[in-house]
Amino acid sequence: MQNIDWNGLTFKYMDVRCHIRSVWRDGKWSAFEFVEEPCFRMHIAATCLHYGQEAFEGLKAFRCKDGKVRIFRPAANGKRMFDTALRTCMAQVPIDMFVDAVQRIVQANEDFVPPYGTGGSMYIRPLLIGTGAQIGVAPAEEYTFLVMVMPVGTYYKGGLQPVRALILDDWDRAAPQGMGDVKVGGNYAASLYAHESAKRAGYPVELYLDAKTHRFVEEFATSNFIGITRDGTYVTPDSRSVLPGVTSNTLQRIAADLGMKVEVRPIPFEEIETFAEVAACGTAVVVTPICEITRGTKVIKIGDPNACGPVLQKLYDTVQGIQYGLLPDTHGWCVEV
Ligand code: COI
Repeated sequence: MQNIDWNGLTFKYMDVRCHIRSVWRDGKWSAFEFVEEPCFRMHIAATCLHYGQEAFEGLKAFRCKDGKVRIFRPAANGKRMFDTALRTCMAQVPIDMFVDAVQRIVQANEDFVPPYGTGGSMYIRPLLIGTGAQIGVAPAEEYTFLVMVMPVGTYYKGGLQPVRALILDDWDRAAPQGMGDVKVGGNYAASLYAHESAKRAGYPVELYLDAKTHRFVEEFATSNFIGITRDGTYVTPDSRSVLPGVTSNTLQRIAADLGMKVEVRPIPFEEIETFAEVAACGTAVVVTPICEITRGTKVIKIGDPNACGPVLQKLYDTVQGIQYGLLPDTHGWCVEV
């Protein structure tokens, strides 16, 4: 095993011991195989390469204070991958099989889970791809499901340090009745051009409005939108083209547990400037405060540019407290390895 700087981890690919793999052929999934080689041999006519038959997930495992490793809500990600497979006409991975694969691969790479106290975690990336050869546009007859893992730190430099976001009206992420509500690689490919433009302009993240009217907030490129109103209500967009985020769902339930009012409803762009706090949330970014949102010549400032707001801080501390085993897991979200 290579020497890892546990305290200096960022969100970067790293080779580990192995990944786990199963192939769907003739209507059934093969037994799991642990594969050390991180490269993949596939048919040049595989449907994932030509017609985008691809789904992925993102979840995490944590080394807790008691030394045990726990995976956060794997069944919720399994359910979402199941839904994505249905939407893209791929073979579905049963949720139990998904959770089993995740548990086994974390266990096989347990020494790559960052030590408690470093702030790091193990990022788990399940992938489902059409690997059957097809040249006419049709679903493949063969699929590969694999799960890879790697140790990660914070997604954006500075962790809970607020970041600036940009709205670029020239590009959309997902069509109103498209695939925004499932986790396919194409949604991320659709955001790359805008993302690179935003980055060049000095904004680490871009925010998307609804593609049809550009009047309502949808989501950030890699994460969901949270607004905290001045009277402490938690608000998040209700839209068919927003990805149903597991972290977003978790934070909504934590907010309700903390006695906050939670509203899932359309958020007009004009409402952003009334929010006391705004954040991006997701598995990779956890909770990232947003201190400024720019659209054309309009610059909306939100909260303290140098510190996370109090409500978001409380939500962040609670979710991380549950994940690292410091707070009671009253919802039964953590699965021990
Ligand atoms: C995650 O938060 O796990 C995601 O899938 C976002 C990712 C594309 C970095």
